[in-house]
Amino acid sequence: MTTANERVSPLDQRSFRDVLGHYPTGVCALTAIDDAGSPIVMVVGSFTSVSLDPPLVGFLPAKSSTSWPRIEQAREFCVNILGADQEDVCRQLSSRDPDVYARIPGGASLHGLPTIAGAIAWMDCRVHAVHDAGDHVMVLADVLDLGVARTDVEPLVFFRGAYRALA
Ligand SMILES: Cc1cc2nc3c(=O)[nH]c(=O)nc-3n(C[C@H](O)[C@H](O)[C@H](O)COP(=O)(O)O)c2cc1C
Repeated sequence: MTTANERVSPLDQRSFRDVLGHYPTGVCALTAIDDAGSPIVMVVGSFTSVSLDPPLVGFLPAKSSTSWPRIEQAREFCVNILGADQEDVCRQLSSRDPDVYARIPGGASLHGLPTIAGAIAWMDCRVHAVHDAGDHVMVLADVLDLGVARTDVEPLVFFRGAYRALA
């Protein structure tokens, strides 16, 4: 752990993770259907709003991800913003278990994409562009449709390596 104001070499990967972990993120589950009709789920903390006109969002899958290439091939996917009461759901969804979606209550979005029940907001998206970004890729996606599902719960937050809720 670094002390206050201590600078670290950008080549020190442990410190890179520690320092960047001080930036809190929300947590989203990307959901899609592959060509064989099987659901695909990927949890990301790198999701962000990008552009209003045209409406674009973005996120950063690792090149090592096995889920991202399948979502990219599906082209369309749903972004499910997870609520503070979905920490357990999130832990299950971020496993590499291929059957995890079958155990999570879900539904279908307006575009027929799988959704996560209990998510606080959703967006149906289509891949717009994929840019190289080191050991990750930066994905830009068009927003096709979107909505708020719940206002009774705060978002799930990831900060300094742990799940949190807003105060
Ligand atoms: C809170 C949280 C945030 C995550 N954010 C990302 C992310 O932004 N990009 C990414 O590639 N993986 C992220 N992951 C890891 C993926 O969810 C997943 O575990 C990893 O991609 C391995 O699974 P896969 O091979 O099926 O993709 C995150 C995991 C958690 C728990």
